Amino acid sequence: MTAVEPQPLTSHRATSITGRVHVPGDKSISHRALIFGALAIGRTEISGVLESEDVLATGRAVAALGAGTARLSDGQWVVTGCGTGGLAAPDQALDLGNSGTGTRLLLGVIAGHDITVTLVGDESLSQRPMQRVLTPLQQMGLEILETGRTTLPLTVRGAAQPLPITYTLPVASAQVKSAILLAALMSDGITTVIEPEPTRDHTERLMQAFGANITVSQGPAGQEIQLAGPHELVGRPISVPGDPSSAAFLIAAALLVPNSDLTIENVLVNTLRTGLFETLQEMGADITLLNVREDGGEPVADIRARSSKLKGVTVPAERAPSMIDEYPILAVMAAFASGTTKMLGLAELKVKESDRLSATASGLADNGVSVEVGDDCLTVRGMGTVPGGGTVTTHLDHRLAMAFLVMGLASDNPVTVDDATMIATSFPDFQDLMAEIGAKLSSRTEAQP
Ligand code: S3P
Repeated sequence: MTAVEPQPLTSHRATSITGRVHVPGDKSISHRALIFGALAIGRTEISGVLESEDVLATGRAVAALGAGTARLSDGQWVVTGCGTGGLAAPDQALDLGNSGTGTRLLLGVIAGHDITVTLVGDESLSQRPMQRVLTPLQQMGLEILETGRTTLPLTVRGAAQPLPITYTLPVASAQVKSAILLAALMSDGITTVIEPEPTRDHTERLMQAFGANITVSQGPAGQEIQLAGPHELVGRPISVPGDPSSAAFLIAAALLVPNSDLTIENVLVNTLRTGLFETLQEMGADITLLNVREDGGEPVADIRARSSKLKGVTVPAERAPSMIDEYPILAVMAAFASGTTKMLGLAELKVKESDRLSATASGLADNGVSVEVGDDCLTVRGMGTVPGGGTVTTHLDHRLAMAFLVMGLASDNPVTVDDATMIATSFPDFQDLMAEIGAKLSSRTEAQP
């Protein structure tokens, strides 16, 4: 991915956030739909694909590995797969840009193929830990060609005959679970992944839908996911619901700005992703799930959020996996609440697109919020209002940029983020959609609204 010039962006106090809108497709499901389509026999038609930088990088990668990909119209893609074990070595390195999900899931795919592949990424991705997937994948037969490397760039060789394994996840990570299950599709025997703490289950749901031989049961040490390989997947239609992690920014804007009433249609409400909504309800937020239904094997709903007075709460550590990407925006909302919010069990935040624990704390402090950061916890002392006026360093992290832009919609003074370009990794239409619902954002070259 070529580095682009940083683009600072400033948000200003808004008078109301209103409308009935859609957010783009879920990032986790979009990556997986492209990857499963590439491994399946026949055509997989996907609607609602998130066309963001991260997902497009995965689309280019599966095409480079031999799958057919075609974009029919906005969000409408067809993938023609090569069958289990049928992908081929690419001509060039796979460039995964900023995407940890794309990288880790594709490492699982590669581990199950007799091919040699180099993976590269941007500055942020090149610092993120890959050992968590390399350890189980090496047990299955993956080789790392430059011994000792644990970060991108990585050159790896997959196994001609990957071994089935039994593996207990040492960290609550859906990416690690998914990488193992993807490699297991090509192995001969039963692979068991034991999850002491449940994490998002889109891989399991999609594998079931594509016809894999997968079962999930409760064992003494947690959830046991068993996959019998080798097994062919059969291409099928997939519809991707709206991303709750993107909806979170719009919901926060509606809760914080007075006179707001916003409905976001067709949002994924899988309970392994909705820890933020649960937390917001405890904080006193006026947020309602309407028309809860099932679509394409996942629960979806329309979410209505109205201006609310929030109060501080303690967010338990065991809730972290179900809201792991939502802590920056929760911390922003906590700053406007009355009373203290304590967020526990946040160690994983340190290895996201940036060290989100310290970067969130710094961004809050730069805008006059009293905050305390521990080794795996964050305490925000909400005062009901936020002075703002700061410039936040976003460290190539899309979610930090969006969270602090939302802060400026309700703070006393505008809030600037040093670089808004990374927002395109997950939410390319963010600025337009925010403007549509009443947000005021301006770049330095534009006149102040
Ligand atoms: C994801 C899992 C989470 C999350 C990421 C997407 C996925 O990462 O933070 O944005 O699609 O599996 P971890 O598995 O590292 O927790």
